[in-house]
Order: sequence, then C-alpha cells, then structure tokens
Amino acid sequence: MNLKTGSKHPLLSRILHWLMAAIILAALGLGIYMVEFLDKEAANRQAIYDLHKSLGVVVFMLIILLRLPVRLVFGAPPLPKSLPIYERILARLTYLAFYFLMIAVPLSGYLMTNAFGYPVPFFSLTDELLFIYGIDDEMAKKFAEFHKTSAFVLLALVTLHILAVIKHRFFDKPENDLLKRMW
Ligand code: HEM
Repeated sequence: MNLKTGSKHPLLSRILHWLMAAIILAALGLGIYMVEFLDKEAANRQAIYDLHKSLGVVVFMLIILLRLPVRLVFGAPPLPKSLPIYERILARLTYLAFYFLMIAVPLSGYLMTNAFGYPVPFFSLTDELLFIYGIDDEMAKKFAEFHKTSAFVLLALVTLHILAVIKHRFFDKPENDLLKRMW
C-alpha cells in the first residue's frame, strides 16, 4: 500500500507496535530480574521463568504471524524529507535490527531452553510446547550466550529509539515529530 508522507501508520500496525512494546519490556524486565536478582530458592521462581518464556513465545508468534505480514502488506508512511539523510538511514537500520531481534531473541531463548532439556510452557494452556531442539549442552551454552547478548542489544536499541522519539518531539521541527505517526 502507498502511504503518504505525514500520514499515520495503519491502525493495526499502531496497535501491534504498542502491544509488542509492552510485552517486550515486560519480558526484558522479567529476564533481568530472574537472572540477576531472584533468589535461587524463591517459591515463585518457576512461575516467573514460565511467565518469561510464555511472553517470549507471544512476541515470536506476533512478529511472525502478524507484525511482519502487516508491515509487508500495508507498509509504512515514508520518513519526513525534512529529516537529515543520515537520520533516515539510521532510523531504517534501527527498524531492521528491531525486526531481526524480535525474532532472534525469543527463538534463541526457546532453543536454549530445549537444548538444556527443559520444556517451554505456554501460560496455563500447556506445560510443554513442541520440543524443537534435542538436549545438547554445548549448543545450549551458545544459545544462552546469544540470548543474553541479543537481549541486551535489544534493550540498548529500545533506549536509543525512545531517546530519538523524545528528541524529535521536543527538540526538533514539528514536521519531524515521529510520535504523531505511531500514536
Ligand atoms: C522478546 C522476548 C525475550 C526477551 C526480550 C528476553 C530477554 C531475556 C533477558 C534480558 C534475560 C536475562 C539474560 C541474562 O542476564 O543472562 C533472559 C533470560 C532467559 N530467557 Fe529470555 N527473553 C525473551 C524470550 C525468551 C523465550 C521465548 C524463552 C524460552 C522459551 C526465554 C528463556 C529464557 C531463560 C530460560 C532465561 C534464563 C537464563 C538463565 O537462567 O541463565 N526467553 N531473557
């Protein structure tokens, strides 16, 4: 679909953007909390791990089944011409990295969990989704390293993204305010 400069993102894209932002922030927060701060003996440890995994699976399903197809079919309004070219390139690279990470982070978490021999539950619907990888300690450690690094790159990008939105809203020309397009 050909959207005009200055128009908003399609409604479905806007809903998915805010819904996924909330779920990803929750998964990031829980992931850091459970690894860095949660007591090894805590009674709710398993429940917190399970919630983290289930939220991650939702992110993976939403990106594959809805967000990517919606983006490909409906497109996005072009970035304002008033933005300097380097900012437009940076923005596009950031969006590409977001799409890659929204697939790679949950997928590596899933693969790591299975490779360590643990099941992936899905809320209270099932204790065990499909096993997609056999037990393999060596690979599990590699997936775990990748999951951690990619999750922290995602966190860094989210921070950069929020700072960029604030800059364009409050310290830039009104036509460069990108928040209006996504709200
Ligand atoms: C957008 C989705 C996800 C995000 C943002 C995310 C983020 C994180 C973060 C930040 C950590 C802490 C890393 C560390 O400090 O070592 C973590 C740990 C973990 N994640 Fe995820 N994750 C996601 C999806 C998943 C999925 C889908 C699974 C499994 C199905 C999963 C399983 C785990 C496990 C088991 C740990 C703990 C590893 C350990 O105990 O050392 N994650 N995640």
